[in-house]
Amino acid sequence: MELKTIDLAVEEHGEGIPLVLIHGFPLNRRIWYPIVPFLEKKARLIIPDLRGFGESPREVEGYSMRLLAADILRLLDRLTIEKAVIAGHSMGGYVALEFAHAYPHRLKGLALVASQADADTPERRQARLITAREVRSRGIRYIADGMPPKLSEDMEIQQQLNQMILGCDSAVAIAALKAMADRQDANLWLPEIQAPILAIAGAKDQLIPLERAHSMIKLVNKGWLIEIPEAGHIPMMESPQKTAEALYQLICAANGC
Ligand code: MLT
Repeated sequence: MELKTIDLAVEEHGEGIPLVLIHGFPLNRRIWYPIVPFLEKKARLIIPDLRGFGESPREVEGYSMRLLAADILRLLDRLTIEKAVIAGHSMGGYVALEFAHAYPHRLKGLALVASQADADTPERRQARLITAREVRSRGIRYIADGMPPKLSEDMEIQQQLNQMILGCDSAVAIAALKAMADRQDANLWLPEIQAPILAIAGAKDQLIPLERAHSMIKLVNKGWLIEIPEAGHIPMMESPQKTAEALYQLICAANGC
C-alpha cells in the first residue's frame, strides 16, 4: 500500500537524543509548550503538528493512524534522524503505536501519555460517528464547547484548550474521528515492541481511565507506568514538570543518561 505522506509543520528545541512529541485530538503542538523549559537542555525536542492540525497541510484524503505514522517517519527522514523516542498524547499515542508497529527499527523508546492500546468498543465507535455528524452540522464549536471540561478540571487550561480546538478545521476533526474509530487493536503487537515503553497517566483522566494504562503496561516487554495523581487527560499542561521528569526517565532507559 502506498501512503501519500506530506511535510508536517514542526518546531525544534534543544539538542541531544531526538524526542518526538505528538499531540492528541483535536489539538496541536502547542499542548507541549509547558514541558519545553524542563526538557530542552536534556533532549532534542521535535514537536510537529499532525496532518490537518495546527499549521500542517489540511490534507485529509485517506486519513488513518497508519498514514499519520508514515508522516512522522517522513519527518524523521527529512531531519536525517535515524532513531527517536516517540511520545504520543492520546490520539498521538495511537499514532505512536502504529509507528512502533510499522517502523520498529526507527524507534528508541515509546511514551504513551494519557493513551491506550485498545481499539474502540462498538459503543465508543458509534459515539464517535455521532460526534462526527454533529460537527458536520454544527461545526467545531460542538467539540470546543463540550470537550475541555473532560480534559482538565483547571479552568485556565480549559480556556486554552477551547481556543485551540476552535482553530481546528471541521473536516479534519471529522476525518480524525473516523480514523480513530477504525484504528486497530494495538494490544496485538504491543508485546513485540522491543524498545522501552512508558505509560504516563493522570489519575483524574475522564476520557481514558487509568486502568487502561495499568492493563496496557502489563502486556509490554519492558515498560512501566507513571501515574500523576493531580492530572486529568492533559498531564503535560496540568503537571508539566512531572510529565517532563517522566519522559526523561524514558530517555535514560532508551539511551542512557
Ligand atoms: C484525544 O485526546 O486525542 C482523544 O480524545 C482520544 C480519543 O478520543 O480516543
